[in-house]
Amino acid sequence: MVPLPEEPARLEMDHVTVVYGGHLALEDVTAQVPHGARVAVVGPNGAGKSTLFKALMGLVPLYTGQIFIHGQPLGSHHDCVAYVPQREEVDWRFPVTVADVVMMGRYGHLGWLRRPTARDRAIVQRSLEQLGILDLAERPIGELSGGQQRRTFLARALAQEPHILLMDEPFTGIDVATLETTLQVLDHLRDAQVTVLLSTHDLNLAAAYFDQVILLNRRLIHYGPPEEVLTPETIVETFGGQVFWLEPRGEGPRMATASHCCPPEQSVPRRR
Ligand SMILES: Nc1ncnc2c1ncn2[C@@H]1O[C@H](COP(=O)(O)OP(=O)(O)OP(=O)(O)O)[C@@H](O)[C@H]1O
Ligand SMILES: [Mg+2]
Repeated sequence: MVPLPEEPARLEMDHVTVVYGGHLALEDVTAQVPHGARVAVVGPNGAGKSTLFKALMGLVPLYTGQIFIHGQPLGSHHDCVAYVPQREEVDWRFPVTVADVVMMGRYGHLGWLRRPTARDRAIVQRSLEQLGILDLAERPIGELSGGQQRRTFLARALAQEPHILLMDEPFTGIDVATLETTLQVLDHLRDAQVTVLLSTHDLNLAAAYFDQVILLNRRLIHYGPPEEVLTPETIVETFGGQVFWLEPRGEGPRMATASHCCPPEQSVPRRR
């Protein structure tokens, strides 16, 4: 891993608002994520989860607010934040192999000649092995199954050796083996003190595997440990209806019917 700065490293969002055209996608989000925390971001479709990750990557402009990484404004630490995009965000027809995609994780580390060194190649190989896709290295990404594509993008993120990893819905549409591998990678990242923010619609996984949960529905509704944040009341507040929630230890459903409603339209606030 890249050495950390001596100051306590953390991720800070300070009154972050993102507007697309006239549409308010994120409103006044303030949160501080301590270094090494594992945070689930939970909210209905259209809640702004992907927008939050794009804001943290500097991929969408902030309408108001600021983001600090390691105490520095966004932009000072390009390489230390890795992003595994939501499946729908990737153009799978792009003509690159699995190994090419994973090597992209090294781009921020390459010297001025931009040629991968033996170390870069070794890190790519290790990441492919860790995700169990070494045998797929020369396959074009468009020919892979959905689960294999997920593993490829997670391998790319590992190859980047990030301090902060953003994973947008990595648990959607994967089989048990890929889920297991993903959870093992999360444990490895915890050992390496990497901060992980991961969006999911799976409340049970959020409750079972994460230190903190952010409930998001355009605004940050709650943020804290799962046992405090994931209550029937806060879930209903976030999802705007009732949600089917199976208890992690098989104690039976607590609530019925899911409502994946989008947040209602809001007028854009004035900039402060
Ligand atoms: N490029 C864009 N241009 C305009 N509006 C956008 C754009 N991207 C997202 N939005 C809108 O911003 C809001 C938040 O979208 P976002 O994709 O962040 O939600 P999400 O929580 O990730 O949803 P999902 O669970 O469906 O992935 C939605 O209303 C969406 O329609
Ligand atoms: Mg999304």
